[in-house]
Amino acid sequence: MANIKLKNVKKSYGSVDVIKGIDLDIKKGEFMVFVGPSGCGKSTLLRLISGLEDITSGDLEFDGERMNNVLPSKRGIAMVFQSYALYPHMTVYDNMAFGLKLAKSDADAIKSRVEEAAKMLQIDHLLDRLPKQLSGGQRQRVAIGRAIVRDPRVFLFDEPLSNLDAALRVATRLEIAKLHHDMSDVTMIYVTHDQVEAMTLADRICVLRDGLVEQVGTPSELYEKPNSVFVAGFIGSPKMNFLRGDFASSFNCATLGIRSEHIVLDNDNPTWKGKVVHTEDLGSDNYLFVDIGAEEPLIVRQAGKVEIAVGTEISIRALDEHLHRFDANDKPI
Ligand SMILES: Nc1ncnc2c1ncn2[C@@H]1O[C@H](COP(=O)(O)OP(=O)(O)OP(=O)(O)O)[C@@H](O)[C@H]1O
Ligand SMILES: [Mg+2]
Repeated sequence: MANIKLKNVKKSYGSVDVIKGIDLDIKKGEFMVFVGPSGCGKSTLLRLISGLEDITSGDLEFDGERMNNVLPSKRGIAMVFQSYALYPHMTVYDNMAFGLKLAKSDADAIKSRVEEAAKMLQIDHLLDRLPKQLSGGQRQRVAIGRAIVRDPRVFLFDEPLSNLDAALRVATRLEIAKLHHDMSDVTMIYVTHDQVEAMTLADRICVLRDGLVEQVGTPSELYEKPNSVFVAGFIGSPKMNFLRGDFASSFNCATLGIRSEHIVLDNDNPTWKGKVVHTEDLGSDNYLFVDIGAEEPLIVRQAGKVEIAVGTEISIRALDEHLHRFDANDKPI
């Protein structure tokens, strides 16, 4: 329920500048995902927004109101971390009700809020259990439930799924997408390392690099129109292929980028020829690693089953309309 505005926000620990001047507008009800390499400042930025850390300079506003000096508990924020930190001796119900009890809400109101949140997260049958009697995914949902009952206007998530196994991650990811849909007024900011989470959950993604915003846009804008080599290489899995030197100069650029799905086998009109040096069969997709004499093998995606053995010489063509050309400053041409 809040528009969030950051104006030249900076954070230093002693002489170390961690957040170096961030301007960002996050719209009410928006799902914004922060991505970036380890140590670039994602968690710090969340902590500045929540008030767990003080802002060194710049302004943080919620709906036009300056928040810099507002206590964390008065900001209307709920935060969910990687480790869920439930109280081990309390039932699921009591864990979820704890914050409301502290705030002296009335008992009937607490009960209906907890039950409503539990239903939304499909943990209503688990309310009498202790945390140790739950799976990791269920525990994380309790942690999310505990945040929901406080009726936040801003929801902050710091890698909430990274401790879960693959199947639970998918299930809980869907749960979070549903939550965003059901709580369409609540602004959500979500930090992740996971490409699929970023691409599927985000209304917009903010790519951070070394304490600064590198690019903000919808998932498809970032995927299709990265404004730097850094973003091109950061968004998407497998990573975009990059060619430099003569390979790039024959396309009039300093760096040529091409995604694995935009290279096809073509004997008649090949862009490059090379030898398959490695293959990865993921079942639905096959990745061929092709040595064309560049610094690294090109990764070529083939849908479905492909019977191409390591050592085979193949001819491949890059799809012209999907080439990314960058200049010597790593900016798109
Ligand atoms: N209390 C602190 N004192 C000094 N430096 C800190 C402190 N907290 C964080 N840092 C530094 O700030 C930088 C950003 O840390 P932050 O935790 O925000 O990174 P991150 O992007 O969340 O990384 P990760 O993806 O590994 O979680 C790091 O270099 C970190 O060492
Ligand atoms: Mg972090």
